[in-house]
Amino acid sequence: MQTRMLGPGFGAEVLGVGLADVVDSDAARDAVREAFDAYSVLLFRGQQVTDELQAAFSRRFGPLETGKVASLGEGTPFSILTNVDRATGALVAPDHKESLRARANQLWHTDSSYKREPAVASVLSARVIPPAGGETEFASQRLAWDRLPAEVRERLHDAFAWHSYSHSRDQIAPHLASAREREAMPPVCWRIRWRNPANGRDSLYIASHTSAIEGLAPAEGTRLLAELMDHITAEGHTWLHRWQPGDVVMWDNRSTLHRGRPWPATDHARLMVRTTITATAADGVDALRPLRH
Ligand SMILES: [Fe+2]
Repeated sequence: MQTRMLGPGFGAEVLGVGLADVVDSDAARDAVREAFDAYSVLLFRGQQVTDELQAAFSRRFGPLETGKVASLGEGTPFSILTNVDRATGALVAPDHKESLRARANQLWHTDSSYKREPAVASVLSARVIPPAGGETEFASQRLAWDRLPAEVRERLHDAFAWHSYSHSRDQIAPHLASAREREAMPPVCWRIRWRNPANGRDSLYIASHTSAIEGLAPAEGTRLLAELMDHITAEGHTWLHRWQPGDVVMWDNRSTLHRGRPWPATDHARLMVRTTITATAADGVDALRPLRH
C-alpha cells in the first residue's frame, strides 16, 4: 500500500489497497487504519462499490451507526443523501426535506457529534455524480488546533461545548428538525478537544452542531465558536474533493470538518451513500465526556 498526499497537510489517496482488500486481509485493514490516523481523510479510487462491500469495509473499523430516525435509510447502516424521490424517480423541489437536508450538509460539520455516541469515521461513496458542483470539502481540526496560539490552546484544553442536531438544522429552516428528531437527539456536551490515542494528536472538536461553550455567556460562546470555525476553515487550509465514479472517501470525524458543496439540484441528480462508524474507547471517546454537568 502506498499513499499520496492530497490536501494541505492532511488527506491522502490510498494506492494498491481497495475496500475488498480491507475486508479480506488484516494486514490491509491495519495499514489503512494507520493511514487514517495519520492523514485524517483517505481517498480510494476505482472501487466497485456496493452497499454490501461498503458496509463490510466499514465494519472492519468498528460498530456501524444505524441510520437516524426520520432519515432515508432509517434502521439500516446506510445514510442516503439524494435529491431523487425514490418513489417517482423525479428530482425533489428546493423546499423538499431532502433538499433542506442537503443545505444543512453544506454547513461545515463533523458527522454525529450531536449523538450520545459520536462517530470516529464516516465512509462516503458516490453513486450518482452531478456534472458540476456537489464536491465535498474538508478542513483539519487537528492542524487547526496546532495553529492556535498557545494561550488559546491552554484556555480550551479543558473546555466543553454543547452539540445538538436541531442547532444546525434551525440555521436552514425552523421545521427541518422534527419534534421526533428533537426528542431522539437532545443536546450533548463534549470536550472541545479530542485526543487520538493512537498518536497523541489533539484536534478541535466543534461543528455546525455546536451551539454553546459550557460556562461562557451565550454571546461570548457564539463569538468564540465563529472565530474557531473561521480559523479551522481559513483559505489555504481546506481541500476540495471532486467526485469521480468509483470514488470512496473515509474521513476521521475526530479531526476534520467537511461540507457538501452546492450543485444545480433542480437539474441534476446526486446520490451519495454513507456508512458511519461509532467511536469506541480505543478511539479516545471516553475522554470527551464531562466529569460533571
Ligand atoms: Fe456529513
